[in-house]
Amino acid sequence: MRSELPRGPRAPALLQTIGWWSRPTAYLERCRARYGRRFTIRLIGQSPFVVLSDPDELKQLFQAPPDVLHPGEGARILEPVVGANSVILLDEAPHLRQRKLLLPAFHGESMQRLASLMADLADEEVSGWPQGEAFESHPRLQRLTLEIILRAVFGLERGAQLESLRELLREILAFGDSPLSLLPFAPQLLAGRRPMVSFEAARARADELIFALIEERRTEGSHGEDVLSLLLAARHEDGSEMSPAELRDELMTALVAGHETTASQLAWALTTLAHERRVQARLHDELDDDEEAYLTATIQEIMRRKPVLPSAEPRLVKQEVQIGPVSYEPGVVLFASAYLVHHDPLVYPDPYAFRPERFLEQAPGTYTWIPFGGGRRRCIGASFAQLEMKLVLRALLERFELEPADGPAETARRRGIAISPSRAGRVVMRERADLTRRSARSAVGQATAA
Ligand code: HEM
Repeated sequence: MRSELPRGPRAPALLQTIGWWSRPTAYLERCRARYGRRFTIRLIGQSPFVVLSDPDELKQLFQAPPDVLHPGEGARILEPVVGANSVILLDEAPHLRQRKLLLPAFHGESMQRLASLMADLADEEVSGWPQGEAFESHPRLQRLTLEIILRAVFGLERGAQLESLRELLREILAFGDSPLSLLPFAPQLLAGRRPMVSFEAARARADELIFALIEERRTEGSHGEDVLSLLLAARHEDGSEMSPAELRDELMTALVAGHETTASQLAWALTTLAHERRVQARLHDELDDDEEAYLTATIQEIMRRKPVLPSAEPRLVKQEVQIGPVSYEPGVVLFASAYLVHHDPLVYPDPYAFRPERFLEQAPGTYTWIPFGGGRRRCIGASFAQLEMKLVLRALLERFELEPADGPAETARRRGIAISPSRAGRVVMRERADLTRRSARSAVGQATAA
């Protein structure tokens, strides 16, 4: 057993921070090529980070007891937006209690009841996209995923309340996009400065609207199928209701955790599929037959190649813990690298190839396919996100096909907490040629028969 940290780059912390920030996946690959599946990096103002990607070590990491590793403490940076009650910031017993309250609202069955709302919103959005010319899909997907959260999670109907909240939440999320906001000392650094002051004003106004919404729904006795309705009905172990502050914080958590992630993942889906005529043709055939196994495998393969959160929540070591051959002291931060395990040739042969078939042959492994993290912190919105992605791709591929836009292939770029395509997911969308041919053939057939 060793207690010194694994080897890693010796460059000054400033250079390591620039590499980590500006070329997120390429930087990880360079470190792995040099130091192997486990290495230490040092970023400005942070404790040392140890990046892990061996499946056995990932299993030990995800299964470590709750008092040994604290992912909640590692995510403190999100507190100004999500609030102190957020499940994402809690650890140990308070985390488990909060998670238990939330899980039923995000369960697969609850999600299925939201499917037709999601499908209608997806259809409406996709129908308005330009045809036959290149466009940036990412901002359109951001608009769609925000709308889905406002309708399916906050339970808002179209109208003034939705419009005002949408604008304020956009402002709040835009602040989170700035690299500055992710610095551990951002609130102190930015205190009193313009971006921070307008962020705080937008948050105060959004809070007013959210608390009014909660009050209104509580008084009405809401019985909807949206997540807020289910949370209003949830009860703590002592039988008490969730407080307005808890509800507000969990709604904001769903927004922060579920909006940009899903939009970026879909933007990767579109840019990837645009280059994959063969996969599109198979998806078109499958969707026409009302099947979806290949669509599921396609989404799994997109999330394998382009995990928008390249690692799970950082886990802060609270008590000495041994993982693999190394013993980590309190204060070290451990990262489960989805990107690296997803691109490990010993786990996935030909890892850079796009081949959804691999997930038809073998279901994704618990410790080798980790775009949603793992263990008791695994993403609560995983069913929500997968259903949403399926419905958006279905809305698109039922009627359209994609082609690549001109220009170089898109590389990975950090955007807030997620990694998205560098040129905003540019694609060209057209009516499906096979449908046009089919309807022309049937028109000719009918004319001949007549
Ligand atoms: C493609 C979309 C998404 C991806 C890739 C994703 C990924 C993740 C990851 C990697 C984690 C950390 C897990 C860990 O550390 O082990 C996480 C946590 C979480 N996600 Fe997601 N997520 C997505 C969408 C969503 C959505 C739509 C929601 C809610 C509507 C959501 C809610 C959450 C919450 C509440 C947590 C914290 C769980 C906890 O700490 O116990 N996510 N997500």
